[in-house]
Amino acid sequence: SRLALLLLCCISGALGRDLTIGGRAYIQSTSRWLPLYPVPRLPSVKEPSEPRNIHLSFGDTERDIVVTWSTVSKVSLPLARFRACSAPPHQPWQLATARSTKFVDGGPLKSAQWIHRAKLLNLSSGERYNYSVSSDGSVWYPVMEFRVPNVSQAQRSFAVFGDFGLANAQSLPRLLDDVTRQRMYDAIVHVGDFAYDMPDENGAVGDRFMQMLQPIASRVPYMTCVGNHEEKYNFSHYRNRFSMPGSSENFFYSVNIGPVHLVSISNEFYFFTNYGTAQLGRQYRWLDADLREANLNRTAAPWIVLIGHRPLYCSNNDSRDCDWGARTLRSGFNGHRWGLEPLIHKYGVDLAFWGHEHSYERTWPVHNGYLCSFIWHERVALNLLQLHAKCQLASSEAAQLKSIKPLQQLTSG
Ligand SMILES: [Fe+2]
Repeated sequence: SRLALLLLCCISGALGRDLTIGGRAYIQSTSRWLPLYPVPRLPSVKEPSEPRNIHLSFGDTERDIVVTWSTVSKVSLPLARFRACSAPPHQPWQLATARSTKFVDGGPLKSAQWIHRAKLLNLSSGERYNYSVSSDGSVWYPVMEFRVPNVSQAQRSFAVFGDFGLANAQSLPRLLDDVTRQRMYDAIVHVGDFAYDMPDENGAVGDRFMQMLQPIASRVPYMTCVGNHEEKYNFSHYRNRFSMPGSSENFFYSVNIGPVHLVSISNEFYFFTNYGTAQLGRQYRWLDADLREANLNRTAAPWIVLIGHRPLYCSNNDSRDCDWGARTLRSGFNGHRWGLEPLIHKYGVDLAFWGHEHSYERTWPVHNGYLCSFIWHERVALNLLQLHAKCQLASSEAAQLKSIKPLQQLTSG
């Protein structure tokens, strides 16, 4: 199996790290100032019942697509209709009734909107579909299109990035071209920090950001994990605006996409403990069970890919997050509760993507802060057990190698 991956890093256009002071986001440049990319013209929404913020995600499988959209007002009959592009013109549309929930922003205006979710289930492998949405079953939004991955092909292509804002979205033109003209991706993976910030201006920033995403995310499933900039009002914008698989309100889930078992978790649970730690325990137990099962299912999905927002390893000058924060994620609280690294190691996670630090780093396989191997995963069928065996020797090997710190000596841009 081959896995094509395109990593668009530093998509916010700035090098450095993000920081929130008094509710505003700051970006620290460490090399040079880049011109700000202006917020593009967004389609205007004239009627409160008009669909907006239309985007796709995978359901429980890659043949299930969830269409999510929003209206300012409650609507009488939220529907999605869809039809295979190869179907004859006289074939009727299939209909899917949306489930609607009211979402009220936590700001002073208590701005309300309705989020609609329609599930298009058991779609045909490799088929392109036309679809549209409606608020009343008679007036339909212009037809859009997506493609279901071909399950008989063991190759998938992803765009992976994090920290993508409404302002200065430097990579937007490239993404638009990749998606609309090149049709490059089977999925887009956004590893946390959206819009800077979705709750700002009583949620209007979140609405504009989702409108900005629509030309991309209405064509390709847009898969997410939560970041620190979603924290406000107990992550309510993240919970309400997206529709990830599972039942954890988008915080932790997994889905098989071709040869990839994609696992998404909330690393923010470790830092916003003001919302309690019960969810952290639930996520940890879920992750343990999910990775155990995935590791037994390597024939069908040989790659286990994990995404979370804050990194388990980084080496820039963000000492708080690259030292204490990363250690907390790796080892858990007090060094032994809910640490992620033992699970990642035990079940042989092949690849992990993190965001948060606006600088690009990659590492050789690491474990407990030490080099695990000089072997990249160029292949998946190469003996995983061999790699694991090396990992188990990591500490002693590393000691012989004069305690090489993997990130300090083996990163590259
Ligand atoms: Fe962040």
